[in-house]
Amino acid sequence: MSGRFITFEGIDGAGKSSHLGALAEWLRGRGHEVVVTREPGGTELAERLRELLLHAPMDSLTEALLVFAARRDHLVERIEPALARGAMVLCDRFTDATFAYQGGGRGFDLSVLDALEAWVQQGRQPDLTLWFDLSPRTAAERRAAVRPPDRFERQDAAFFERVRAGYARRAALAPERVVRLDATPAPDNVWAQVRAAVEARAWA
Ligand code: TYD
Repeated sequence: MSGRFITFEGIDGAGKSSHLGALAEWLRGRGHEVVVTREPGGTELAERLRELLLHAPMDSLTEALLVFAARRDHLVERIEPALARGAMVLCDRFTDATFAYQGGGRGFDLSVLDALEAWVQQGRQPDLTLWFDLSPRTAAERRAAVRPPDRFERQDAAFFERVRAGYARRAALAPERVVRLDATPAPDNVWAQVRAAVEARAWA
């Protein structure tokens, strides 16, 4: 049986990473092999590219190409083999983040991103994408409480409004794949939404 590919998306500070860990435990408890990974990153090469992406200044085309280079390595070396052996792959961010951050946030040409997506993924898409949506203002308050900002997190509120709009566009284009969760309420409430979205798919 082929595995399932679940991605976690949202602006920085939405709280997706802790729910990713909880879902991994929940699926393991149901007997699934679970692979937890993230983008940019997930392989040795892609983690090196992540360091550059998060900290080195670069122009927007370089940034888009590096994101997709990291993604290609991650797909070939890690994601596809895990899915082939039947694992559940939980990935903290994937291509929707590129459309939201590089496309929405930076205003990068979406048709170039479409072409890179087709080229790099060869038709591979997540089976389910959980989009943790909340207002940029609430997200910024949560971020400020926990850690110093990286290159993306230092952007202003208008940037995160564009990122959010980028996610909304992607969700509208793939309504069966992308489930919008309201990430505003307390973690218990959001976790219930996560579980409901996964349970709604017969394969959980
Ligand atoms: P993030 O998951 O927020 O990592 P952490 O929680 O450890 O800070 O991801 C890091 C940043 O990378 C995030 O600000 C969004 C950015 N990013 C892109 O700009 N494009 C992409 O395609 C991806 C996957 C991430």
